[in-house]
Amino acid sequence: MRIEKHPILEFKEKKKVSFFLDGKPVQGFEGEPIAVALFEQGYKNINESLVYHRPRGIFCCIGNCSSCLMKVDGIPNVRTCTKRIEEGMQVETQKREP
Ligand code: FES
Repeated sequence: MRIEKHPILEFKEKKKVSFFLDGKPVQGFEGEPIAVALFEQGYKNINESLVYHRPRGIFCCIGNCSSCLMKVDGIPNVRTCTKRIEEGMQVETQKREP
């Protein structure tokens, strides 16, 4: 669900880029944060709590919590709400051992 029309703001059309979530191809718009693109496509649980493994998703969306941590291009614990999509990027969920 994207906001496409707004009475005050103007949204310019952006180029689509492809990246991978756990090996599956996913699309988003250039310059968009990874977590936002995933949320828009229905991936709401992108992380889990450290102790009880409860599902976690976007919470603050400004890089101040740990709800959106994912592995990006082999780098663990990247805050995907502030990391912008790049073409061909490899994004992985971080499953922790119980
Ligand atoms: S949602 Fe809080 S740091 Fe990303």
